[in-house]
Amino acid sequence: MFAVHLLSFYFSKLQEDQIKKVDRYLYAMRLSDDQLADISARFRQEMEKGLSNESNATAAVKMLPTHVYSTPDGSEKGEFLALDLGGSKFKVLQVKVSEDRKGKVQMESETFPIPEEFLNGRGTELFEHVAESLKSFLRKHHINHTRKALGFTFSFPCAQSKIDEGVLLSWSKNFKARGVQGNNVVQLLRKAIQKVGDVDVDVLAMVNDTVGAMMTCGYDDQNCEVGVIIGTGTNACYIEEMRHIDLVEGDEGRMCINTEWGAFGDDGVLDDFITSFDREIDAASINPGKQLFEKMVSGMYMGELVRLILLKMAKKGLLFRGQVSDALRTKGTFQTKHICLIEQYKGGLENTKEILEDLGLNPSEDDCIAVQHVCTIVSFRSANLVAAALAAILTRIRENKKLKTLRTTVGVDGTVYRTHPQYPKRLHKVVRHLVPDCHVRFVLSESGSAKGAAMVTAVAQRLASQRKE
Ligand code: GLC
Repeated sequence: MFAVHLLSFYFSKLQEDQIKKVDRYLYAMRLSDDQLADISARFRQEMEKGLSNESNATAAVKMLPTHVYSTPDGSEKGEFLALDLGGSKFKVLQVKVSEDRKGKVQMESETFPIPEEFLNGRGTELFEHVAESLKSFLRKHHINHTRKALGFTFSFPCAQSKIDEGVLLSWSKNFKARGVQGNNVVQLLRKAIQKVGDVDVDVLAMVNDTVGAMMTCGYDDQNCEVGVIIGTGTNACYIEEMRHIDLVEGDEGRMCINTEWGAFGDDGVLDDFITSFDREIDAASINPGKQLFEKMVSGMYMGELVRLILLKMAKKGLLFRGQVSDALRTKGTFQTKHICLIEQYKGGLENTKEILEDLGLNPSEDDCIAVQHVCTIVSFRSANLVAAALAAILTRIRENKKLKTLRTTVGVDGTVYRTHPQYPKRLHKVVRHLVPDCHVRFVLSESGSAKGAAMVTAVAQRLASQRKE
């Protein structure tokens, strides 16, 4: 235990010194209002590049049409299956959407581990593992008596020309199975289901997790027209006017666009904000030069960023009296969940001490305060960057609607947003500060990625049966 109370005067001076030291060292990660406005303006331009026919092919931010035309209208009902692949966990779910709009969306879900060899192995094996997991879920829950409609949440950039097709453009995060890029993942899933046998399902829709989050939130709140994920990866979708989407025929109505904002900066537009630590993360990743914004923001990288910073500070003698441990030198030993523990309101400092000791270090009180501040700077930068990009989307929606002030709802999901004690509060504050003309309601879209797939599937099923009539 630290003697915080007894030494309060001395301690706060000490605290101030530690904080100043870290602030100086990480000045490039502390973004001012002007810098955030600048980043936001750059993202606005990238959005336009992605939407336009002439520049789409070379645009870093892909702005992918989703073929989802509206948020739920209350007519969605029935029982659906959903698969959620690409987040922190692979899940199989059964989702019941009741007739009554006010009624609950009920859900049963099971998490299945994906062994490392499937992430890096052959794509067919990955999809067969997915199909086997689905089969075991159906058995366990005695669901196999009637044919079920299935929605597939696949959280990677896909080119979609219809709702039940998606060609994987590139893997991101920790996936890199062979033979999937350039192929239609719905087809791969259908084939795997057929091969595994005894699974009576119709794969009717494929959605990105951001779209799922938006749809789930939109079921309760008709104003929801943006979905954001801040988890293992990060991304956002929003409802755009058809007349602005060059890649899809027709000018009437609106369609949800999957921005794939994780790739913001891949063409160099963020180079002046990218630090040496970000470069190091990128160089050691499975996709160097790709998803640069994601690598500055999301849960898969934040912990590692902190580790690299601590290592460098220690080597320079700025922390741990210059002491460095083997664990601190090892990639992946410090994770984003540790940042969450360190930034707890109560007990954060004790957690810091414990975590550092587990890394084989012997931290002083000053060290713990400094490390806590490093975590705050890294996680605050993440919230700032998300806020800047989100502010650009909100401004675009406001201008599309020719409104002076926009009232809208954003559905958010992802482990970072859900588990970091201060992240949501900071994000909301910065967004409101950057776009005071947008009144934003943020709604946590718990398990939204998969529930939303069921909503989209419900619509796809209704349309399919209308076509048959
Ligand atoms: C990555 C994927 C994107 C997904 C995001 C959040 O950025 O490319 O499709 O939405 O992670 O899971």
